[in-house]
Amino acid sequence: MKQKDNIVIADDVNELADEFTRIFVELCEISVKESGRFTVALSGGSTPKILYRRLVSVKLPWNRVFFFFGDERCVPPDHSESNFRMASKTLLKPLSVPETRIFRWSTELHGPPDIAADYAERLRTFFGGVPRFDLCLLGLGADGHTASLFPDTKALNYDDSTSFAVSNWVPELQAYRITLTAAVINNSAEIVFVVAGREKAAALAAVIQGPHKPEKLPAQLIDPVDGRLRWLIDAPAASLLTP
Ligand code: 6PG
Repeated sequence: MKQKDNIVIADDVNELADEFTRIFVELCEISVKESGRFTVALSGGSTPKILYRRLVSVKLPWNRVFFFFGDERCVPPDHSESNFRMASKTLLKPLSVPETRIFRWSTELHGPPDIAADYAERLRTFFGGVPRFDLCLLGLGADGHTASLFPDTKALNYDDSTSFAVSNWVPELQAYRITLTAAVINNSAEIVFVVAGREKAAALAAVIQGPHKPEKLPAQLIDPVDGRLRWLIDAPAASLLTP
């Protein structure tokens, strides 16, 4: 494993999972000690599966951990595309996390705007104002998206922290997504991108080392206001980074 500034390059995805687990444990223990709880916004997609499966075997004060989701697809919670379903199978059910500590998007509500408004209100109630996650886990798409902040989509334009969660029509998917806004993500105490696979190398190099053009590379919007950003990357995904 190599580290330069806020970038950790793991030899492979297993070492990536080891490092994420180390960070998660460290942040969870500190947060529970300081505030009595640990709030984590989970990422969807497929990369996190190995991370979540690894966490299940770790001894932590899990009963103090509250789980949120950075984004969701507009599908039922038991749908194969659901980020909640993926996290439930790999992490939440194995840990027997009660529903009272899981904040999934209520995708059974009618209409993406209603789902987003409902989630925003629940976040506002839980945090007593602007959400500040102790940890926000993010992935990176091969097109430079993160959460469901896709290139050239409306959700990129919410730069005030009053809009916590929005619906987002994604032309390339021909579907609505629902997502936290970059402003809310940037209010997190810790943000960790976990990126694996050669297919992400071009996007990763463009996001980290290329020109700033967040409308095309939304992951460039992620810049914590009062927090820390770290990149956990495997060697294939880091292959186009210049030293
Ligand atoms: C989602 C995620 C999305 C994901 C990236 C990377 O809902 O799919 O929130 O932002 O993190 O698309 O996905 P993979 O890890 O599957 O490559």
